Amino acid sequence: TSSKIPKQINIFRDPNSNMARVAKAKMQNPAAIPFYFTESGFGSSWQKPAELHTIFEKLRLSSSVSASASSSSTSIDYKKRIKMSIRQQRESLPIFKFREEIIKAVTDNPVLIVIAETGSGKTTQIPQFLIEAGFILRGKIACTQPRRFAAMSVATRVADEYGCIIGQEVGYKIRFEDCSNPNTIIKYMTDGILLRECLSDANLDSYSVIILDEAHERTMHTDVLFGLLKEAVKRRPKLRLVISSATLDYAKFSQFFDNAKVLQIPGSMFPVETFYYTYQVTTDYLNAALNTVLNIHMREPDGDILLFLTGQEEIERACETLEEYIEKNRSRFNLDLIILPMFSALPPDMQSDVLLPAPKKCRKVIIATNIAEASVTIDGIKFVVDCGFAKQKINDPKTGMDMLTIIPISQASANQRLGRAGRTAPGKCYRLYSEKAYNEELLPETIPEIQRANLSQVVLHLKAIGVKNILEFDFMDPPHKDNILTSLRQLFLLGALDRNGDVTDLGRKMTELPVEPNLAKMLLVSVGLKCTDEIITIIAMLSAGNVFYRPRKKQTLADEKKKSFEHAVGDHLRALNVYKKWEINHYSSEWCKTNYLNEKKLLEAQDVRENLLTIMDKYKYEIYSAGFNYERVQMAICSGFFQNIARRPAISGRNNKVYKTIDEQECFIHPSSSLFHQLPSWIVYNNLTETTKKFLNENTVINPLWLQQLVPDMYRVTDFNPNADLDDFLHDLIF
Ligand code: CDP
Ligand code: MG
Repeated sequence: TSSKIPKQINIFRDPNSNMARVAKAKMQNPAAIPFYFTESGFGSSWQKPAELHTIFEKLRLSSSVSASASSSSTSIDYKKRIKMSIRQQRESLPIFKFREEIIKAVTDNPVLIVIAETGSGKTTQIPQFLIEAGFILRGKIACTQPRRFAAMSVATRVADEYGCIIGQEVGYKIRFEDCSNPNTIIKYMTDGILLRECLSDANLDSYSVIILDEAHERTMHTDVLFGLLKEAVKRRPKLRLVISSATLDYAKFSQFFDNAKVLQIPGSMFPVETFYYTYQVTTDYLNAALNTVLNIHMREPDGDILLFLTGQEEIERACETLEEYIEKNRSRFNLDLIILPMFSALPPDMQSDVLLPAPKKCRKVIIATNIAEASVTIDGIKFVVDCGFAKQKINDPKTGMDMLTIIPISQASANQRLGRAGRTAPGKCYRLYSEKAYNEELLPETIPEIQRANLSQVVLHLKAIGVKNILEFDFMDPPHKDNILTSLRQLFLLGALDRNGDVTDLGRKMTELPVEPNLAKMLLVSVGLKCTDEIITIIAMLSAGNVFYRPRKKQTLADEKKKSFEHAVGDHLRALNVYKKWEINHYSSEWCKTNYLNEKKLLEAQDVRENLLTIMDKYKYEIYSAGFNYERVQMAICSGFFQNIARRPAISGRNNKVYKTIDEQECFIHPSSSLFHQLPSWIVYNNLTETTKKFLNENTVINPLWLQQLVPDMYRVTDFNPNADLDDFLHDLIF
């Protein structure tokens, strides 16, 4: 059985610290906002209304003036900028003065590291400088972004500056969307896309310069690209590599890239005054955050507000709460407040709204995840409210699956957030944690994703590129050896690698599909099982997330509607049911409303579904529907998620609801699952979350005999007894 259980990476410096405890509590109840306003001002169920003013005063009193920020004359008020011509705007950016120096440095050095404040013009200007300097004669220019939204919005801006239609000379490419053509010379793309391009062209021959932007984010894909491109530059002496970021440990980066040249462009930051929260951080930081926002709105003459929260659900609730309050109390404020959410799952056009300047007599408040930390420049922000937390992917070393977890941010992130307030004028930053917490509980730097997330996809990619020994790959910060081994084992069980660790045909096909290895396996198996139509919809629905909407006042009704979609086989088929009924009802908005379904998410699923259909078509896979033969769908799910098997020991009787996973964790079916009352003996689950108990989410009934058939290397029984314990059934696998 799983002999190699990697060590847990220590994300919290001190798991008993206050910040760590808040993060954990928040995870258990993300939606809890015990927030209401009283007649006399602001208040909450946890704080006496009268105290609110004091909180704010305390915030003021404990202020520490930020030392790092220095005012500079190079910055131009953004209101002036709006009125300038595009050329004047470009020339007003801090990076413009370094144009010649950048061109020369790129010409003379194989690798260049550029550091400049967010908003200086790195992302939009450097590719244009290089094009203007004639690099195009040697090939296209690629610029990677960790986030899809940043790639799209920046490409749109540069197309404007360049004077072309987006997708022509200037374009972008992100997962499921290619807005570029053979004439594209400046191509913005996510780092994942460039990694994919390395698969078919290891030297990236069509490019003259590769810019790895936002390098400080240290996404898994960027980290892998560091290692791959370091080698590519040696093989192809004419290739140029630029690493750019607002903040990073340049000594470390320079050393990794064989003493690469570093160019630091002085920032144009205005001073930002910092305020710390003197109360102990509690789980109601949301309450404090909203109160702070309203206080700013009430007391400060102008300037937009940026509030950092952790995730979509929290942000949506915060927007709702704020909107409700503003609606009722409009007369108390001098300015109108425009409330804008921002998170990566938001449709792109709604994300772009945050970039538009607020109209006269209005103030914007943007409530964002850490998407707004560095990769997107939002002009006009004067106030930042920082909750001190972020959602991050953390790998559960026991199952090898990633979980999104709320954790305290790092000091580097906190300062990056603070910096958002001083781009266009002096600003203020309210940190909803104490100075002591900042100094003692936050880690100096964020742990790179490669050291905390599941490596399977990356390992498969590296293998497919031809990297024989992943353990010896040149990582800037290597992942834990045991995590690499877990991924190799998982890929072997998926059939993507053979016993020698070489990529199989199946593995190669998996790399062609833009989804994680277990989903890719599910898709490929579905082709043989003739149920691809269903599996594509299920994958699309899984990627869209929870589509059921449960308004506070109509919970019973919403629950009833939800029940009408239930399926005896489980939640994957419930999701399929929802999608199919939506389809039958001509994708109607009205129908979504009456059935308490989140239309935005369904549209997202529709989008993913169409993209996957196109890709399957490109590789000439035939798309069949299983009709009513659900067993095939269940088997396909099993083939990808065979490590997520749970069994309810039969001897325990009807009242015992405990399930055991393959690594012996005791779990329960989540009450939101359609199998909650049914309690089947064997299930496959999509993920495991831990709140008050360990819960299994998105479950489907399976027949254990399939496991033996689908994953003989992992499950084997000579004399099968369906009542056997899971461990009798697990075959000892030495890998
Ligand atoms: O990459 P960096 O943070 O250094 O700056 P940038 O993204 O190149 O942005 C430079 C300037 O372009 C910003 O100050 C914005 O005013 C403007 N910009 C924009 O108007 N719209 C965008 N989508 C991106 C940038
Ligand atoms: Mg940028």
